[in-house]
Amino acid sequence: MKLGIFGAGYVGLVTAVCFAEKGHDVIIQDIAKEKIATLQSGGLPIFEESLENMLQQNSKRLHFTHDVSKVISECDVIFICAGTPQDENGKADLSQVEAVTKEISRLSTSDKIIVIKSTVPPGTTEKMEQLANNQKENSLKYSFVHNPEFLRQGKAVYDFLNPSRIVIGTSDKESFNIINDLYQNWNAPIIETDCKSAELLKYAANSFLAMKISYINMISQLSDQLGTNIDDIAAGIGLDPRIGGDFLKAGIGFGGSCFPKDLQAIGNAAAEIEVELPFIKQTSEINKKQGELFFEKIKVFSKGLNNKKIALLGLSFKPFTDDLRSAPSLALADRLISEGAQITAFDPLVRIFPVSGVQVAASLEEAIKDADITVLVTEWPEFKKLLRIENIENMSKPVIFDGRNMFSLEEIKNLSNQLTLHYESIGRPPVSNLSVKNQILI
Ligand SMILES: NC(=O)c1ccc[n+]([C@@H]2O[C@H](COP(=O)([O-])OP(=O)(O)OC[C@H]3O[C@@H](n4cnc5c(N)ncnc54)[C@H](O)[C@@H]3O)[C@@H](O)[C@H]2O)c1
Repeated sequence: MKLGIFGAGYVGLVTAVCFAEKGHDVIIQDIAKEKIATLQSGGLPIFEESLENMLQQNSKRLHFTHDVSKVISECDVIFICAGTPQDENGKADLSQVEAVTKEISRLSTSDKIIVIKSTVPPGTTEKMEQLANNQKENSLKYSFVHNPEFLRQGKAVYDFLNPSRIVIGTSDKESFNIINDLYQNWNAPIIETDCKSAELLKYAANSFLAMKISYINMISQLSDQLGTNIDDIAAGIGLDPRIGGDFLKAGIGFGGSCFPKDLQAIGNAAAEIEVELPFIKQTSEINKKQGELFFEKIKVFSKGLNNKKIALLGLSFKPFTDDLRSAPSLALADRLISEGAQITAFDPLVRIFPVSGVQVAASLEEAIKDADITVLVTEWPEFKKLLRIENIENMSKPVIFDGRNMFSLEEIKNLSNQLTLHYESIGRPPVSNLSVKNQILI
């Protein structure tokens, strides 16, 4: 089947490449002309593991165009993968999804199945169906489906091809059957439901995952005060199969393009119909506080940050992606800069960082050279080498603040038998053999 896709971002491109891998012809359009130009010249506008290989292997079945009408005239099934960012009031901004819907309705000359993959508040898919049908000046049928996406950035291609479930929300049985057939080569349970339930299901899933992170972060705040070890506590909780260990790792807090905005969007959608969602509100608040507390720890230790040299390791919101949307590094860098700190940052993928005053180094070694404090923000596996003796010796002061609990306290203690080191993390006691004299130097 020939499929049309609007939106060549993380979800749209992965959807396109994976359907091409399964043998479908796919045409992709994006309003951002430079993205299509990059794709037409064989490049990729985003980084996602194995995307480049799969794109090359399936290049005969993948077509990139600036021409909206080409997608609409050649495809009977069209996916909307446009963005649904947060607006200034915290609500989901649906203008991109709406714009695509209007174009499809305006330019179609045959019936269409329109699949909304973007994350949208309950009721949106039905509204878009009404919009398309009300606007038309013909007798065509526009049937809308909501097929939410659950991929994780960094593992997006794997997740798309190996999902834990596929959700198809629609009120039209014929459309359900067509989309169900599209996924026939996938080995995953299919949840057949109505559009609104599919929409809420996606928000409920994301909120639950975010809530798990905030839950362990809340406990880490207590653990910090009690001097207990949050990693042992999380391991002990997570081994209970009713709870599970995933998303139970304490850290500086979650970021990314989905959790922060989706929590706001569902909270706002619920408030509009006067339903309170206290867990959702608390999840966001705990997350914000977690970042602030980590910053305070650094500030208290350093006794003022003016002119302190900070090495910031990891900028993307999580490893294996170049995505900076709502990354914890942004708020932390802002706070450090506003206190007069000088930041040199390094990330394996991010080369441009939008906080003014932050220098981006070409390597971890360059970032930590002469640093007074080294701060780990994203747990890229290659940052494990930070603990090499030559790297610690390269810093001006042997001080590490680990916002992701990347290192076990045991390995830090072993290292501190060999050299001077001050190490603080989240929800675990500091490890330090800095003498009082050295602390004054900091
Ligand atoms: N990124 C994720 O991990 C993820 C996972 C699941 C669901 N989602 C949801 O999927 C949707 C897309 O997310 P994303 O991360 O791919 O966003 P993105 O910003 O990377 O991509 C969206 C793309 O849509 C394009 N676009 C905007 N208006 C358009 C128009 N009128 N016509 C054609 N293209 C248009 C943009 O230029 C952009 O390239 C969002 O609703 C998001 O919440 C994202």
